Amino acid sequence: MGKYAPHSPSAFMRKPNESMRLIITIVIGIVAGFFIGNSFHTVSITKVLLPSGIFSFIEDRNTGQATEALLNHAFGSEKNQIVNHSKVLTAEDLKIYVPTNPKGAERLPPGIIAAESDFYPRRLWGDPSEDVPSRPKYLVTFTVGYEQKANINAAVKKFSENFTILLFHYDGRVSEWDEFEWSKRAIHVSVRKQAKWWYAKRFLHPDIVASYEYIFIWDEDLGVEHFNAEEYIKLVKKHGLQISQPGLEPNRGLTWQMTKRRGDREVHKITEERPGWCSDPHLPPCAAFVEIMATVFSRDAWRCVWHMIQNDLVHGWGLDFALRKCVEPAHEKIGVVDAQWIVHQVVPSLGNQGKAENGRPAWQGVRQRCRREWGIFQTRMSEAEKAYYKEKGITLPNKDRVADQIDLALGVGTVAIKLQVEISVFTKQLSLFLEKAKKTFNLLFI
Ligand SMILES: *[C@@H]1O[C@H](CO)[C@@H](O)[C@H](O)[C@H]1NC(C)=O
Ligand SMILES: *[C@@H]1O[C@H](CO)[C@@H](O)[C@H](O)[C@H]1NC(C)=O
Repeated sequence: MGKYAPHSPSAFMRKPNESMRLIITIVIGIVAGFFIGNSFHTVSITKVLLPSGIFSFIEDRNTGQATEALLNHAFGSEKNQIVNHSKVLTAEDLKIYVPTNPKGAERLPPGIIAAESDFYPRRLWGDPSEDVPSRPKYLVTFTVGYEQKANINAAVKKFSENFTILLFHYDGRVSEWDEFEWSKRAIHVSVRKQAKWWYAKRFLHPDIVASYEYIFIWDEDLGVEHFNAEEYIKLVKKHGLQISQPGLEPNRGLTWQMTKRRGDREVHKITEERPGWCSDPHLPPCAAFVEIMATVFSRDAWRCVWHMIQNDLVHGWGLDFALRKCVEPAHEKIGVVDAQWIVHQVVPSLGNQGKAENGRPAWQGVRQRCRREWGIFQTRMSEAEKAYYKEKGITLPNKDRVADQIDLALGVGTVAIKLQVEISVFTKQLSLFLEKAKKTFNLLFI
C-alpha cells in the first residue's frame, strides 16, 4: 500500500468514516454552491445544459419552498423552460441571436451591450458607480501645437466645467501642457503631423462621443475674447441650430458674408453674397453653410457628418459646402451665432508641419494638397449621389450638369476666398493662382 494508500479505492473500504466525511463535504459543497449562486442573480446557464438528474437530486436534498426559490433565482428567465418538462431544450433553442443588436454583436443578450462610450476618466479603485462625480454634457476639441499654448489656454478658459476638453497634439509635445491646471483634467491624444479632420475621424466616432450633446471641433488660432461657451450653447438651443459656428470678426481679412459677425442680432441663418454667387438663396454660400475652422455640431448632426468625412481627405476642404446634406431643412438648422463671436487669427501653424520639397516651402505642399482634396471630395460626393439616383431608377435632368457647373464655380470661389484670407501672408501665390483660375474658368471673382 505504501504512503499513497489514501488514493486507492480500497482506502474507502478501510476507512468508512473518512469516505462518509467526503460525501458529506461534497453535498455541503453543492448546496453551498447553489446558495452562493443564488446571491448572483445573473448566473448564466445559457450554454451549460445540466442533466435533469441534478434537479431531482437537489429536490431530494432541499424539499419544499427553499428549492423553488433557489431555482427561481439561480436560473432567472430560463426557469420556465427548464422547469417546463413538456419540451426538451436543445443547445439550438438556447442560442442567442438578436438581429437588432449592433452589427457583429448579435450573439450577445441585449442587456449586456454597451454600444456607446465617453471620455469620462475613472478611478482604478472603489465603487464604479461613484467614479464619475460629474458628467460634462459638451465636448470641445482643439488641434494644437505647443507654440499656440497661450491662445489655447485663453480659449479653454471660455469653456466651463460642463465641457470635456480634448486636445489633439500634432507636434508630439504633450507633457509641457501640464503647466496649465486644466491640462490635468483634459484628454490628450498625440499623433504627429496630422490634420484636424484626421483626428476627428479616428477619435470622435459618434458612438464614442455619444454622451455629449454638442461637440466643438476647433482650430487653434481663434481669438475668444468675446466668446462664452455656455452662452453660445443657450443660443444654439434657442434657435435650433444643429450645425453652427460663432460669427467671425469682420475686419480681419476677407471671408464669406455668411460667417461674418452681424452686430444687430443673436444668430443669422441666411445672407446675401456677391451677385451671381448664390443660385438659390437657401443654398451655400448664402445659407445652410458654415466654415470648418470653428464648427459646432449637435450629437445627431455629428453622427451624420462623421460618416461623410473621408479617411484620406484630412484637410476637410469642401466639407463646409456639404454639411447641409446632414440636416433638414439645412437653411434653418445651420447658422452663425453673432452674439458670441471670435477672431480668426490666421496662423498657418499646421501648414508648417508639411514637408519642404524641391526648394518649395513646406506650407506650399500642404496648400496644394488642400485644393486637390477639395476637388476629390466634390467628385466623390457627386458620383455617390449619381450612383444612388441611378440605382433608384431616377434620371436627373440636365439641371444636373448646371448644378455641377454651379458647384464648380462655388468651389473656385471657395479656393479664392480661402486664398484671400491668407493674402497678408502669401500675396504672391494668391495672384498667381487667381491668374490661373481666371484663365481656366473664365470667371470674374471680385
Ligand atoms: C410549458 O410548455 C407548454 C407547451 O409548450 C406551454 O403551453 C406551457 O405554457 C409551458 N409552461 C410554462 C410554465 O412555460
Ligand atoms: C453647467 O450646467 C449646469 C446644468 O445645466 C448649469 O446649471 C450650470 O450653470 C453650468 N455651469 C456653468 C458654469 O454655466
